[in-house]
Amino acid sequence: MRRKIGVVVLAMLIAVAFAATMAVAADPPGEMTIDKVASKKVGVPFTHEKHSGSIDCFKCHHASKTKEEIKSCFECHGKDANAPDPTSSKTDNPFHTMCKGCHKEQGQGPTKCADCHKE
Ligand code: HEC
Ligand code: HEC
Ligand code: HEC
Ligand code: HEC
Repeated sequence: MRRKIGVVVLAMLIAVAFAATMAVAADPPGEMTIDKVASKKVGVPFTHEKHSGSIDCFKCHHASKTKEEIKSCFECHGKDANAPDPTSSKTDNPFHTMCKGCHKEQGQGPTKCADCHKE
């Protein structure tokens, strides 16, 4: 009997832990500042909610197929050797490629350094 309860409790703990990760992944941020590399250049305010209202999630979260799978860019970029490193000038900065790239392409949104890196 005691063992059975142990198994049930364990199953519940796993379910709770799983639900917690799901809740985080399903909740997209509103306003945020991208500042993991702020020691090299001041962090960049990003209106996530406004962008994600009109742009497909997976255009930016290119490595995820479902909303639940979405994780931080820095989980790969800067860790996985195949992903361009946002902290090293040896590769093109993936944020510049993506953020500036789209702004240039659409003729909308900031493309000048100081308009993103606001001192
Ligand atoms: C469209 C927005 C945008 C523009 C325009 C932009 N950046 Fe960035 N930049 C970012 C973002 C986002 C990061 C990542 C910030 C972080 O994680 O701290 C970044 C990171 C950096 C970094 C730190 C990482 C690295 O590559 O060494 C430097 C330095 C940098 N930018 C310089 C510049 C310069 C110089 C310009 C102008 C020629 C510029 N940026 C224009 C968005 C932009
Ligand atoms: C224009 C690009 C863009 C679009 C569109 C976009 N996102 Fe994001 N999202 C980002 C960036 C950049 C971050 C910050 C990533 C980081 O800090 O590593 C982020 C962060 C997140 C995070 C937090 C990830 C973490 O664990 O830190 C979640 C969740 C998320 N987005 C979900 C969504 C969902 C859901 C959609 C579609 C409704 C969406 N995003 C659309 C660029 C975008
Ligand atoms: C699960 C790992 C993973 C996550 C999360 C991830 N990336 Fe990537 N990314 C990669 C890998 C690996 C590559 C190189 C291969 C390729 O192009 O798919 C790449 C390529 C890119 C490129 C193309 C670079 C170039 O020079 O052609 C951009 C831009 C980019 N990522 C931006 C982002 C941004 C911004 C986020 C977060 C919103 C993000 N990535 C999240 C793994 C990831
Ligand atoms: C696929 C296209 C696309 C991508 C990717 C994108 N943007 Fe934008 N962004 C836009 C458009 C379109 C506007 C103009 C919308 C407006 O002002 O109403 C804009 C406006 C902005 C503005 C000024 C208006 C505001 O909402 O604050 C900032 C700052 C900005 N983007 C930052 C970023 C950063 C940082 C990234 C990368 C993490 C990024 N953008 C990625 C399309 C994009």
